[in-house]
Order: sequence, then structure tokens, then C-alpha cells
Amino acid sequence: MPVKNRFAELQPEITAWRRHLHENPELLFDTPKTSAFIEQKLKEIGVDEVVSGIGRTGVVAVIKGKTDTSGKVIGLRADFDALPILEATGLDYASKTPGVMHACGHDGHTAMLLGAAKYLAETRNFDGTAVLIFQPAEEGGGGGKEMVDDGMMDRWNIQEVYGMHNWPGEDVGTFAIRPGAFFAATDQFEIEVEGKGGHAAKPNATIDTTVVASHIVIALQSIVSRNVDPVEQAVVSVTSFETESKAFNVIPQHVRLKGTVRTLKDEIRDLAEVRLKALAENTAAAYGATAKVNYMRGYPAMVNAPAQTEFAAEVAAKVAGECKDAPLVMGGEDFAYMLESRPGAYILVGNGDTAMVHHPQYNFNDEAIPAGCSWWAEIVETRMPAN
Ligand code: NI
Repeated sequence: MPVKNRFAELQPEITAWRRHLHENPELLFDTPKTSAFIEQKLKEIGVDEVVSGIGRTGVVAVIKGKTDTSGKVIGLRADFDALPILEATGLDYASKTPGVMHACGHDGHTAMLLGAAKYLAETRNFDGTAVLIFQPAEEGGGGGKEMVDDGMMDRWNIQEVYGMHNWPGEDVGTFAIRPGAFFAATDQFEIEVEGKGGHAAKPNATIDTTVVASHIVIALQSIVSRNVDPVEQAVVSVTSFETESKAFNVIPQHVRLKGTVRTLKDEIRDLAEVRLKALAENTAAAYGATAKVNYMRGYPAMVNAPAQTEFAAEVAAKVAGECKDAPLVMGGEDFAYMLESRPGAYILVGNGDTAMVHHPQYNFNDEAIPAGCSWWAEIVETRMPAN
């Protein structure tokens, strides 16, 4: 069975929802307009239950099948927050809020899940319950964690959970997935180097923090190249190097470094943290300076459950003819928290030849809507077949 015909009919309406969301982007948990729009559409669609305020500003909807002899409950999740980026697409429905933009396609994810909701509420051609999860604050706020911590999984007895993200560079409407670790754990670190400031013409009377911090930046490169097993994956990037001196002739007392660590396994994550602290502190000590390390753990690695991944790929192949093997992604995804809580899978849907996500010229491709919506609907109908 290819793309469902109903979604070809619904595509203009779903596209209009998507473009409305695109024009009105909101950040993190500060999403009053977006949450209200989702809630209003769900009520118009006629789902059985809508609850807002889950995980602060998330929205959860319930659609019951014609029957419920299976007792199965499947969660489908879309994110809906935007990014602090100045849009440069020139679209007639470009962001009306300067500096805020749907640059990751979460407008498309939410519109597609609303489209699936409309179809599922019309047809109800399944035996069980579909729970639709609309999540805020994917872009660094941990909205997925907030919704799980709010008791969502137990409250609606969700047994499996599925997620989807668009992917530029893959043919529009095609699918790709991988079992096991898929997206990386995303940690952040700050290192404050303290030496002895002074006159730049008399460095012998100082402990030069700029030189010490430079050696720390170089030393950190050895974590991935010398400590991590070469068949594993890890990234350590220093992204900020800030001295407190703006002058040409002052050696600063302090230098602050910032950066990120990306890993896919707990033991590699632990190793990177231990080595980062040791290298920073001991390199500083070798020069008579000190380094204070603040290592902040962020999203865990997002791990697809094997059985649900196989099922999700079968459904994708039904919709699109095939499902490709996806590469590892060293970016983060807070759907990881939902997959820690319940078995499930996360799939990529091709966005065609567009700018990459988080680019000011990126745009979600509305031609992906029929395939994306069909995948959602087919997950429900195939996992919980009607009697
Ligand atoms: Ni995203």
C-alpha cells in the first residue's frame, strides 16, 4: 500500500496549517500561540481527549479505535518549537517574528501529526488507542524529558512510542532508520583557567592564562584521537575562547573556554568526562595555573529499540517502497527521553534538496506531507489491526 489517497486530498489543508505555524514561530516552552493552535485543531478534528499543559506547554490527544480488544496504546510524537535564527528564505509565509524561525521543520512535524490525527479520527480503523504527543522545547530545553517527568507515559498507559524528523539531502518522502544508538548524547563544558595577570611586556612576572588555555584546547584533542577506541564515535569541540582582556598589552587573569562533547555510549561518555577534567586540571597545573571544569550532561543518546525499529522500517517500506539504512547522527534529540521510558523508534523522512536544518534558508518541504502522514497512520493501523 503506497501513500494513502486521503492525504493527497488533505495535503492543501495540512500545508496551510504548516505555513501558519511557520509564520508564527515560538521558542522553547514559550509557545502560547502554537499550543493553542494545536489544541484548537485537535478539537475541530474531533479527537476523544485533548489535554494541554503536559511538560509545561505540551499537548496530548487521544484517539480511540473502533474497538479496543487489544488493549494496546501507541504514542506518536511531534515537536513544535522554533530556533533563534533570523529567517532568510524570502517566503511569503516567512516568520513574522524577527530572529525566530522554524529552521528545523518542527512546523512540518506538527502539521503532519495533526494531519494523521484528522485521518485517524475520521476512520478509526484500528483496535486500540493512539496517543498524539505534541512536544515543546526540543531545541535545548528538554521538553521531551518534561513531558515524561510529568507522568505522561503512565497516565495514558503508552506502551510504545514513535517519532519522526525530516532530513534534507534525502529524496522527499523517502525514509531512513537505524536500530540502536542513532543520535548522540549532548554534553556541554565550561573551563575557567586562572593564572596571574599582568603586563604583556613582563610575562615572566605572570602566569599567562592565554598560553595555558591554548595548551588545554590542544590537549583536549587527544581524547577522541588517543583515548576513545577508534571503532567508536565521539566528538569534543571547543567552541568559545574568551579572555577578560580587550587590551593589546594586558595578560588576563582569567580565560574561559566552552564546548560540547557528543557520544553514543555511556562508557564513552564517562571516559570523555573523566579525561576532559584530568587534561584541563593537570595541564593548568603544569604551568602553575588552575582550571575549574564544569561538565554539564545534556540529552542522553537516542536509542531505537530493535523490534520497533524493524516494524517502523516495514511500515516505511509499505508507504515509500523501501526504507534505507540511516547514518549515525552526532546531533542530539530529546526524543531520547521518551525512548528511555518506552520502547519505540525514530525515523527520518527525506526533505529533498533543501538547505540543512538550522540554516537561515532552510524550509520544510510540503511535498513530504503525504508520506509522513501515511507513515503515522500506517503505524497505528498495522500495529493495532482492526478486527
Ligand atoms: Ni529538529
